[in-house]
Amino acid sequence: MSASSGRNTDILIIGSGAAGLTLALRSADFARVTVLSKGSLQEGATFYAQGGIAAVLDDSDSIESHVEDTLTAGVGLCHRPVVEHMVSHSAEAVGWLVAQGVPFTSKQGSAGSSAKPDAATLSSLHLTQEGGHSHRRIIHATDATGKAVFETLRGQAEKHPNIELLEGCTAVDLVTQPAQDGSGRVCVGVYVLNQESRKVEAIRARFVALATGGASKAYLYTTNPDGASGDGIAMAWRAGCRVANMEFNQFHPTCLYHPHAKSFLITEALRGEGAYLELPDGERFMERFDNRKELAPRDIVARAIDHEMKRLGCDCVFLNISHKPADFIRNHFPTIYERCLHFGIDITRERIPVVPAAHYTCGGVMVNERGETDIQNLYAIGETSFSGLHGANRMASNSLLECFVVAFGAAESIRGKQQQTTLVEAIAEWDESRVTDSDDEVLVSHDWDEIRRFMWDFVGIVRSSKRLQRAQRRIQLIREEVRDYYIKHKVTNDNLELRNLALVSELIIRCALERKESRGLHFTLDYPEQAVEARDTILTP
Ligand code: FAD
Ligand code: SIN
Repeated sequence: MSASSGRNTDILIIGSGAAGLTLALRSADFARVTVLSKGSLQEGATFYAQGGIAAVLDDSDSIESHVEDTLTAGVGLCHRPVVEHMVSHSAEAVGWLVAQGVPFTSKQGSAGSSAKPDAATLSSLHLTQEGGHSHRRIIHATDATGKAVFETLRGQAEKHPNIELLEGCTAVDLVTQPAQDGSGRVCVGVYVLNQESRKVEAIRARFVALATGGASKAYLYTTNPDGASGDGIAMAWRAGCRVANMEFNQFHPTCLYHPHAKSFLITEALRGEGAYLELPDGERFMERFDNRKELAPRDIVARAIDHEMKRLGCDCVFLNISHKPADFIRNHFPTIYERCLHFGIDITRERIPVVPAAHYTCGGVMVNERGETDIQNLYAIGETSFSGLHGANRMASNSLLECFVVAFGAAESIRGKQQQTTLVEAIAEWDESRVTDSDDEVLVSHDWDEIRRFMWDFVGIVRSSKRLQRAQRRIQLIREEVRDYYIKHKVTNDNLELRNLALVSELIIRCALERKESRGLHFTLDYPEQAVEARDTILTP
């Protein structure tokens, strides 16, 4: 195997969502940064985020209250010091975003219009409400917060002379070597598939950050874009990092149910502004499940909908905001109004058919508050990581907050280490001498579909030991097939995603089998009670 001394950079960030772009912008004044995206830059979950960012900005709100709400939603499994860290940096994160130019909706502007307040006027931002929050504390840009954040950060990154943005580049695997001081391993680069040239290139870097998003594509129905195949979690696991709490896959209660609408979320902010959940006959049902009704945390609302759909044998339930003034609806939720109208549903007059769908991966690569992993110079930030913030159920709009706060910490960690960290001179070139072109793509698409269906049926909102064992047998078989295909064929974006999705699905099933209780997002018929002691499920490679 020959060595490559080709492309190199100081910080290689895999992923161009909120986490990746924030780390890039926070580091580019002291380092050369390269950001990779396997699709177009915008094809991560960030672009599609609707509701907003949770932050303590209002005088009547407090850090303690946001911390307590997060701990309650996380059902005893959040790490309190981590929650306190994230929440106490929430105003700083929003201030930074405002300074970057994110056009958040303000109180003063006519409802639905966006203003650009300076950092000193954070209190002018309009706050909306979502499940689990005991205060209005969601900062937003109407109902398209992710688009506003992404476009602003991408614009800033494109202007920065130290940031290089590369699309169509899929990270395949991390390159590590023994640390010189004998303490574990150090990350020195990444193998990257250039989808245009179809070549795998070794890129050397002093620091590597996984900002690859979640793994909700493991499920048949999801709110996530296609690339959410858990690549960062899979790469980190193969490189030797611990992974935790993968059983806690969050199902969002309200995804649009329509034969032609792929993965379209109906934001929780609709319920925050007064929308009701109804059965087909018009009955409101949430009060039978929780006294917070539609604003109970997501695990409770999703399970209640699942229960009612199974009880009645119906295909969906309905979300109804038509009792609010039409102007209010159109101004606060322009994206949802337009999208539903496109499918023939006028939400100012009609109910919206909705179903739960896989939405967020609470578990991931184990990190601390600075995004540092078990491997030196390797960071994991955003949804791909497990920081301890979310516990057994993430509270609404805490995810983007985590992306920003951990990226800030990772940038500071890298700044502190950069003087004593050098580039390796070369890394082994990618070896293609024993593989042929991928010749049977139907195997890849078949395995992909099969995984997503049995994960939905057997590892979904309500689980049982029998269903999980069934899923485990199937995933082991598929993983063998995928391994065999991988070693014989040239890599493509599709077979890389399948390899990662199969591994991450296996990690989800293993974690789910290990948890012998029901807590938050993990509900199993065989252990319906909550254990006295709350423990993380930690897997070691
Ligand atoms: P993403 O934004 O998902 O970005 C991942 C990036 O990694 C992409 O650029 C992708 O191309 C790249 N990538 C992945 N694998 C590879 C690879 N192998 N090689 C190269 N590149 C790779 N959270 C909130 O807090 N508030 C909300 O209102 C909210 N609304 C949401 C609405 C929807 C529809 C969805 C799906 C999620 C929502 N969430 C929300 C969750 C939140 O948006 C995500 O958790 C967050 O945006 C994740 O950001 P990220 O930077 O970690 O990853
Ligand atoms: C939503 O807008 O309902 C999604 C918010 C989130 O996932 O935090």
